[in-house]
Amino acid sequence: MKIIASNWKMNGTHDEIHKYFKDLCLEEKNLSKTELIFALPFTLLYEALKINRNYFLKIFAQNCCYHSEDCGLTGEISTKMLSSIGVHGTILGHSERKQFGETLEVINMKIKSSLDEKLKVIFCIGETYDDYIENKTEEVIKYQIEKGLKNVKNLENIIFAYEPIWAINSNSDVDFENIRNISNLVKKICIDTKSYEPKIIYGGSVNLYNFRKILDIKDISGILVGKASLDSKKFSKMI
Ligand code: PGA
Repeated sequence: MKIIASNWKMNGTHDEIHKYFKDLCLEEKNLSKTELIFALPFTLLYEALKINRNYFLKIFAQNCCYHSEDCGLTGEISTKMLSSIGVHGTILGHSERKQFGETLEVINMKIKSSLDEKLKVIFCIGETYDDYIENKTEEVIKYQIEKGLKNVKNLENIIFAYEPIWAINSNSDVDFENIRNISNLVKKICIDTKSYEPKIIYGGSVNLYNFRKILDIKDISGILVGKASLDSKKFSKMI
């Protein structure tokens, strides 16, 4: 089973989503060996879930509040609200969210809140370009997993997304050797500390030309695609 995940980021309107899913031509595909995930803006979640009735897509939110109970937090969306409309999961820890001051402590609370609501979590981890150049990737990944998953016991509903920050939405070449090493490291950490073999997907400028080679990497279970997934015709080919 391979995971093919699309991260729409801050893209898409109500009208566009209908055309997008029509152009994917999912009814013509054999999806028996593919888990298809769409991480969408809040405004499109309900519509996607309605469109999804005929397929087996997993619809994820791109954020959630760390606080689970109803309360006075203007503008926030709780995991309880997400699961009440049928959302399947959340994508958390993305480097673009960290630009808004999201710390690993906050990410840890959001992960726990999601899991408590029986939502799946795509937990993004990855190093900066400086870390990469200074050979600090392993250290950074270990730290992010330790802090992000502090006191999280049950890993079954977590998918790790290794996304080197420097590779996101960039024209740099994909470093296959690095993906191989880091996915293997993540697997080892989870087996050693949590006795669990995790699912690890890769994200960062995945496109039509490199995705097959990424999917062939031993410990990689799938891909997380941003920009290239916004083009429904190209993404349809990947699926
Ligand atoms: P990208 O984004 O494919 O546009 O690099 C991936 C992501 O940030 O999830």
